[in-house]
Amino acid sequence: MAKEPIRVLVTGAAGQIAYSLLFSVAKGDVFGPDQPVILHLLDIPPMMGVLEGVVMELMDCAFSLVREIIPTCDEQQAFNDIEAAFLVGAMPRKEGMERKDLLAANVKIFKSQGKALDQFAKKTVKVLVVGNPANTNAFICSKYAPSIPKENFSAMTRLDQNRAQSQIAFRLNVPANNVTNVIIWGNHSSTQFPDASHALVNVNGTIKKVGDCLNDDAYLKGEFITTVQKRGAAVIAARKLSSAMSAAKAACDHMRDWWNGTTEGQFVSMAVYSDGSYNVPADVMYSFPVQIGADRQWKIVQGLEINDFARQKMDLTGQELKQEKEDALSVCQD
Ligand SMILES: NC(=O)c1ccc[n+]([C@@H]2O[C@H](COP(=O)([O-])OP(=O)(O)OC[C@H]3O[C@@H](n4cnc5c(N)ncnc54)[C@H](O)[C@@H]3O)[C@@H](O)[C@H]2O)c1
Repeated sequence: MAKEPIRVLVTGAAGQIAYSLLFSVAKGDVFGPDQPVILHLLDIPPMMGVLEGVVMELMDCAFSLVREIIPTCDEQQAFNDIEAAFLVGAMPRKEGMERKDLLAANVKIFKSQGKALDQFAKKTVKVLVVGNPANTNAFICSKYAPSIPKENFSAMTRLDQNRAQSQIAFRLNVPANNVTNVIIWGNHSSTQFPDASHALVNVNGTIKKVGDCLNDDAYLKGEFITTVQKRGAAVIAARKLSSAMSAAKAACDHMRDWWNGTTEGQFVSMAVYSDGSYNVPADVMYSFPVQIGADRQWKIVQGLEINDFARQKMDLTGQELKQEKEDALSVCQD
């Protein structure tokens, strides 16, 4: 029997990440090749003309899974009955803008969207925040949606994970998916800690530790980390636009794994509501290695050994998240 369609929201739908993301969602790469979708596309009023063009193109792709497309600038219509949300739209940093002003502009957006989720979305909705500062935006969104479990909110560090995995794969000359269990700890910012010390690689059918295969501790503690941390800035410098294709692919990977579960023995990184595991700050959206079951519930992978080097980096990014949260809360008013 054919599945009932699910309602999927993409915000910032007229923007560049959404342009790639909508293609993959509509094609069935995220929710499955037999799962029809109703696409809710939210953007701001001045972008409605551009959004019309995106709708035309989606129609012209003749995707068999797309049952309906709802372009809108109305939050009630956008969030109504949705089962999954990609919150991509955010206020970009403009020249001369202070960090605090940027945070305040985004608090306003994610507070309003949190309230809309609370009022109109399905209580089981899975929310992925992509718009920056992603971790803190997700925290604010969840705060204003108290009727939805905190576990249903996450922020994207999958692009950082994919970047890290790919750096190692190219270095070892293996396909990217042969490298697993690379971890991104903390904030999706330059303080994030890309950690390959638990990563594995499949070399001709044999699973080995990445560290043993690379045999280059200086690289893993130095260039590897800074390359991943600064990759977003490097793409902007080269393309004059921020990462879009790769961000969309990562958003799809994140939601697909959340929806369908992770592969046995493998973990993925998601910024989720922190319970203070590994002695990082609790009550912030911290990126951890997680495993996800068929019930769509993530669990933080426990018991990984944390050495002094990792400890210091995990604490640093945790402190930044705590500060970001305090700054955001200070402009929340209620
Ligand atoms: N977490 C990550 O790994 C990651 C990676 C890349 C980019 N990003 C972030 O994703 C966001 C989107 O990037 P982009 O390249 O698509 O930007 P973009 O400027 O091309 O598109 C953003 C869209 O969001 C819309 N928008 C703004 N406020 C909105 C609101 N309140 N409701 C709905 N839509 C709104 C804009 O009108 C625009 O169409 C940025 O914040 C960017 O920093 C995150």
